Amino acid sequence: MTTPVPSPKVQAFLARGPHRLFVDGKWLSGSGGLRSITDPATGLELSQVTMASPADVGTAAGAARRCFESPAWRGMPPAVRARLLWRLGELLDAHADELAEIEVFNQGKPFWLARALDAGAIGETCRYFAGWCTKLDGMVHSPSAPDPRGPGAAGPWLHMYSVREPAGVVGAIAPWNVPLVIAMAKVAGALAAGCTVILKPAEQTPLTALRLAELVEEAGFPPGSFNVVPGLGETAGAALVDSPLVDRITFTGSTDVGKLIVRAAAKDLKRVSLELGGKSPLVIFADADLARAIPAAADSIFINAGQMCFAGSRLFVAHSVRGKVLDGIAAIARDMKLGHGMDPETAMGPLISEEQRARVAGYVAQGLAAGGQLLCGGAAPAGPGNFFAPTVIAAENPLNPAAQAEIFGPVLVAATFPDQMPEQELLTRLNATPFGLAASLWTGDIARAHRLASGIQAGAVWVNCINMLDDAAPMGGFKQSGWGYEGGRAGVEEFTQLKTIAIDLT
Ligand code: NAI
Ligand code: MG
Repeated sequence: MTTPVPSPKVQAFLARGPHRLFVDGKWLSGSGGLRSITDPATGLELSQVTMASPADVGTAAGAARRCFESPAWRGMPPAVRARLLWRLGELLDAHADELAEIEVFNQGKPFWLARALDAGAIGETCRYFAGWCTKLDGMVHSPSAPDPRGPGAAGPWLHMYSVREPAGVVGAIAPWNVPLVIAMAKVAGALAAGCTVILKPAEQTPLTALRLAELVEEAGFPPGSFNVVPGLGETAGAALVDSPLVDRITFTGSTDVGKLIVRAAAKDLKRVSLELGGKSPLVIFADADLARAIPAAADSIFINAGQMCFAGSRLFVAHSVRGKVLDGIAAIARDMKLGHGMDPETAMGPLISEEQRARVAGYVAQGLAAGGQLLCGGAAPAGPGNFFAPTVIAAENPLNPAAQAEIFGPVLVAATFPDQMPEQELLTRLNATPFGLAASLWTGDIARAHRLASGIQAGAVWVNCINMLDDAAPMGGFKQSGWGYEGGRAGVEEFTQLKTIAIDLT
């Protein structure tokens, strides 16, 4: 594999390193030490980034708090906030190629995917949420409390209404798999609601968050309204959750860390929203359009090298089409070209780290040891980079560890079901996981799709499609896949609180 050279713009950005923290509208040299940021496809260093210490996080929290309480932010008319977010959206679009390229070098996914999924979507996310700034109205109530003036008095005696206020200072903790998209869903929703934000990107992928900070500065947001503190989870992330100056945490990442955050937030009952892991079923019935279902099933697990919370990682296929479906997916997997994300022929990039690759290999080994049958892949190719071959394991036992755990790599675990299986029994199998993020159903029978969609325990059900996300639609997990929503009205209301005011008019 030849090592691609970044474009002049991206080289100029990388050369601005060692990168600092963006706090209170200024670039601060933090005290948590430098981290070498590497290209997961080559292992080569891209740049160095300052990690925030807990004290630096405290400084950022202080700045976000002061800004939240300042007239410059609290007094800003919603329409002005809307224009700032809109301007940021335009800047993100104007720099989409550059942002996509930085993501490719730092995260590993192919450029076509980063351009479409990551950098191509976030400008629209900003504009979508910009529209909410001016629409977060309160309400006037019709209370039933008896009028102390007795019968016949003029007009109401009580004026009772509720206003929707911003939740305060938001700590946003993002993961490394889709760094910009996940950060923007949180940041744009929180800013639209009138909150101020401290973003902590994952330690592996801080680069696009830092470029985002430069664009936020250019858009003209007041100092302190948006801050970026790259840092380690156990120190900077934990300090954000611990800070008394932070009102709300929005987190995407592992279920284990989600639980840690909930425990830590209990100290001051900080509000928390969580988007956690998944082990989502993808079901192919015998009457499905297999020409579409087979490539979609492959995409659902292999896109972004399987490092997707929504990945369709448990395949359930009707017995009569098992051979055709599994052969088809395995053929796609064997054909996929692994390589650097900047190579236009690359179908799949590397995993984010050697640690993640070891985790994925470990689950594959456990799955095979427990009786799973390897249909393709299963190993890491020789050479540099954290690559892992797209893998399909047939495992009928639902207790097989590979069928249970969120692997977060390009590993599909496939099981069959009898064509005539009663729907309730099938639903029991689909729902037999602590997770409840998404499900995808492939069938020509739309009535069956509606019946099953109603019985599936998941925050998103996709019928004859996969990964249908939209800024307008709320997304959230059932069961241990999370709390709260991102996207849609619910995604901005997450960052607000209602205050009810009653005025005696007598
Ligand atoms: P992680 O949950 O440790 O990391 C996600 C974010 O949380 C990062 O920004 C990290 O710095 C931060 N973090 C870690 N510990 C923290 C703490 N104690 N307090 C506050 N913030 C903390 O995920 P990791 O270790 O990178 O990946 C492990 C597994 O997690 C993956 O194999 C996958 O199963 C799952 N995961 C799920 C994601 C999703 O989109 N739902 C995203 C990333 C990982
Ligand atoms: Mg971790």
